[in-house]
Amino acid sequence: MDVDHVRIFDTTLRDGEQAPGCTMTLDEKLEVARQLSRMKVDIIEAGFPAASPGDWAAVNTIAREVGAPDGPTIAALARANKDDIDKAWSAIQPAANRRIHTFMSTSDIHLEHQFRKSRGEALELIGEMVTYACSLCDDVEFSPMDATRSDPDFLFQALKIAVECGATTLNIPDTVGYSTPQEYGELIAAIRANVPGADGVIISTHCHDDLGVAVANSLAGVYGGARQIECTINGIGERAGNASLEEVVMALHTREAFYGLKTQIETRELARSSRTVSSFIGVPVPPNKAIVGANAFAHESGIHQDGVLKNRMTYEIMSAETVGLDGNALILGKHSGRHAFRNHVEALGYTLDDEDFQHVFLRFKDLCDRKKKVDDRDIEALIAGETQHAPHIYTLEHVQYSSGTNMTPSATVRLIGPDGDARTDSAHGTGPVDAIYKAINRLINRPNELIEFSINAITEGLDAVAEVTVRIREQGISSNGGSDPTTINLTGKRAAQQIFSGYSVNTDTIVAAAEAYMGALNKMLAVRQERMKAEAVAYAAGYAEDPGALPVDLFDGGSAG
Ligand code: KIV
Ligand code: ZN
Repeated sequence: MDVDHVRIFDTTLRDGEQAPGCTMTLDEKLEVARQLSRMKVDIIEAGFPAASPGDWAAVNTIAREVGAPDGPTIAALARANKDDIDKAWSAIQPAANRRIHTFMSTSDIHLEHQFRKSRGEALELIGEMVTYACSLCDDVEFSPMDATRSDPDFLFQALKIAVECGATTLNIPDTVGYSTPQEYGELIAAIRANVPGADGVIISTHCHDDLGVAVANSLAGVYGGARQIECTINGIGERAGNASLEEVVMALHTREAFYGLKTQIETRELARSSRTVSSFIGVPVPPNKAIVGANAFAHESGIHQDGVLKNRMTYEIMSAETVGLDGNALILGKHSGRHAFRNHVEALGYTLDDEDFQHVFLRFKDLCDRKKKVDDRDIEALIAGETQHAPHIYTLEHVQYSSGTNMTPSATVRLIGPDGDARTDSAHGTGPVDAIYKAINRLINRPNELIEFSINAITEGLDAVAEVTVRIREQGISSNGGSDPTTINLTGKRAAQQIFSGYSVNTDTIVAAAEAYMGALNKMLAVRQERMKAEAVAYAAGYAEDPGALPVDLFDGGSAG
């Protein structure tokens, strides 16, 4: 075991994706997994296969596509029961390096009120299920859920059993984000001192951010002896989220002399990972977010600017380049050819298939006509906008709007439906965006509620490209009559209706708003289609209930009107 190496266990696709509004399509999950692999995370927790056949299929696809022998370990989560463990194990089969991650609560409050088990029963279950997982897989992680609110002596007992039964990683979740850095660091040190065999396994941190100290707790944990950090890109996750990957990685990198520890992360991939996840889930990165926020390296005050101009080190503890935020001015312009543009896109680290490349190239040409200075931030935003993987079930062919003072805003929209038919409709609204959204809804007719709409300028200047993010919630889906749009969450309950996001960039803000809305609607329809398909496949493979017994899907797969 390399004592100086801190393993980065990314759970963006499991703990992150299960948070409301962070739903991703299968292709988006795969793209995130590829980016995580490019960034060299040690372990990708790809999902929770028992949650639904769709989750199983996503984990299985990631295991197949990203789980190369020299790539990351692919982990799958499982509750402490045989069925979950079997599903996790079957899902990760195609990966070269596999891990089963099983968990059971150890706090009295969880045992009594949620699991209705005595401490003795919990210990028995932990022993049986860790043993079972180890009979299948030689890399097994055990998490005592709500560890930080558990009686320490009981926690040590549970961990001792997990080690005796073969667990190779002991993860210590601060499930409700209750701990403080000092306590958490001391807990990790106490586990190392009190759990027989703990020195032969990896101790891991898993901190939630309810008190805003998830990163501080994770760092205190490694200071106390942990050698794995569980974290997510942009800190997404349940409630206030998880420890942010970019922050823990850069803290260890920048303060290497203090910690004396290393990760294997390619830090120049951090900014891109952040942008990828943000555009897929439609949650913008706050400008003041550490490491990857737009202002993280901006010096506004005169005294700071003066210092930085004389010597960057006066006010900068790390460079924007180290995290991949160079923002180089692009030396390409509207006369640049396809070949030069492809080279530049590749130099930025993107590998686009021909179809995506063609779309991005056309958008780039269009942008050069409208904007004086196109830089890498614009290119990356175009790539993010064009390579979102929600299939174009409906394509926005044309949008026209009029609005102004003393007139009623109106819009006309033309969509191509899944059957290839074009349909046009018009509507009035309180503003141009409202009019467009009403016209689109008349055509697609899938009830939804717009719960968030945000506009951001990618670069400076009046000709800046606008980035629009929308989030919608599926509506009017009844649990008896219509399709159930939910999946099982960790506690076995059905989660609330899902939230879907859309993202687009355009120099015309209103057109970007129309495209972003189409993106969210397409994603809503695509996720539902994927779920239906996965249920059918799982049924055929003997893994799920009869999908015919599931409520009928509302998606009619056809008409555009
Ligand atoms: O926060 C938590 O306790 C978890 C466990 C399932 C590891 O996410
Ligand atoms: Zn968690």
